[in-house]
Amino acid sequence: MNREKMLETAVEARNHAYAPYSGFSVGAALVSSESGLIYGGCNVENASYGATICAERGAVMKMVASEGKVRISEILVSTDTNPPAVPCALCLQVLSEFCGPDTPIHLADLTGIKKTVTFGSLLPHPFNEIPQL
Ligand code: THU
Repeated sequence: MNREKMLETAVEARNHAYAPYSGFSVGAALVSSESGLIYGGCNVENASYGATICAERGAVMKMVASEGKVRISEILVSTDTNPPAVPCALCLQVLSEFCGPDTPIHLADLTGIKKTVTFGSLLPHPFNEIPQL
C-alpha cells in the first residue's frame, strides 16, 4: 500500500519536473519514519546547469521544511527508463544525513518498482566530519 502510494507520489511529482535542458524527468518519493507521511520531489533544472536540483533532493527539502530533521524509512525514484535510474552521488550524500545503510531505495519506472537496493550498497562510505571508516 505504502509502495503504491510512493509510486503515485513520485509519478505525480515527475509530471511537474522542470527539465527543459536535459529533457529527462525524474520523480522521487520518500517516507518520514516519524510521521509516515510521503514527500514527493521532481528535478528542477537551471540555465546555469550546476544549479539544477535533483528530484531526490527536492523531496528531502520538502520533508525537512515540513517536519525538521527526521529519519527517512524508504525512498523511491521513478523515471521512464529501462533499467530504472539510480540516485546520483550528490543526492546520496544529502540523503546520508537522514537514512542509514539498510534504508531501502526502490528503483521504479512509471508503472512499478523494478529493483530495490539498500542505501548502503549505493553509498557505503558517505562523507562525515568525523570519519567513520
Ligand atoms: N537527476 C535527478 O533528478 N536525480 C538523480 O539522481 C540524477 C539526475 C536529474 C538532474 C537533471 O535534471 C536530469 O536528471 C539529467 O541529469
